[in-house]
Amino acid sequence: MTAEIYHVLRSDQFDRSFLDELYDITNRLRAIARSKRGRDYLRTLLSDQRAMLYFTQPSTRTFLSFLNACQILGMQTSEIRDANTSSELKGETAEDAIRTFSSYVDLIVMRSPTAGLADRVAALLDKTPRRVPIVNGGSGKDEHPTQALLDIYTLRRSFSKGGGDIDGKRIAMVGDVKRGRTVRSLAKLMKHFDGAEIVFVSPETLMIEDDLRSYLTENKIAFQETTQFEDVIPNVDAIYMTRIQDEYDSSGESKGIDYSAYHFTKEHLPSLRKDAIIMHPLPRRQEIDVRVDDDPRAMYWRQERNGMWMRVALIAKIFNIHRDIVEPYAI
Ligand code: NCD
Repeated sequence: MTAEIYHVLRSDQFDRSFLDELYDITNRLRAIARSKRGRDYLRTLLSDQRAMLYFTQPSTRTFLSFLNACQILGMQTSEIRDANTSSELKGETAEDAIRTFSSYVDLIVMRSPTAGLADRVAALLDKTPRRVPIVNGGSGKDEHPTQALLDIYTLRRSFSKGGGDIDGKRIAMVGDVKRGRTVRSLAKLMKHFDGAEIVFVSPETLMIEDDLRSYLTENKIAFQETTQFEDVIPNVDAIYMTRIQDEYDSSGESKGIDYSAYHFTKEHLPSLRKDAIIMHPLPRRQEIDVRVDDDPRAMYWRQERNGMWMRVALIAKIFNIHRDIVEPYAI
């Protein structure tokens, strides 16, 4: 039995037993959701609860997968997707705006361009009489903890087909590993898997920064850094591609970077191990050739769907109803 979870803010708040439990809940949910009876049952579980999705930075997958995850559990949802349509335009702070949402709803999922905002808001709500859980759906360059959870789920589910787990596996994280929050949040979770190793592959100017380097060293997570993508491809169990995060450029500096050496093309497929997988948090630009999509090792579309089910499991865990997700409903 693992501890309860309330706010979901940063990936370093999760321990191994939480990852294990979430993996099991997600798999049970999927089994239940195979039948209409099961899906109808799931919709009863949180039909008395309301969620607010507050996304002031662009989002397709994270927004829609949370929205659908809430709906799968029967929750009612409301949303703000643009700070320009909220009273923030009148000068209200994001903190006040979120405190307002807490007057109406039982869960707040938020994405913001501001690093650390989710932590600040959670700390603020903890001091009010109307405390509600905050889930961080991406906070600037720093964290994207639910993406890390779904990435872990996808890695484990894929490796389980060969009878293994993430322990002992080598994972390449490729592209803008400096500013990609999905990379930062996922890399930190590797400490829960014995002998797992990360190979960061990026142009010189987009390498990880010292804060992440120190975290990895302190937590005894093995890692290497290289600019040579093609040398890495045959030697890893998973390749996690990312796009250039040029929304964080201060003066268009990404334009001068030749990113083409960090594209995965159809020509790379023969050198990739037979049981290796290709992941991407999406959206993609040219980092993965569309001709790769049909290869059985291309996992990014399944990764996206895994995300929705993992988020259902996470919400169930936050509301402490995960014990109601029980086998009799699975056919
Ligand atoms: C990522 C993000 O927003 O950090 N997308 C996502 O949530 N699936 C990655 C990205 O935008 O490159």
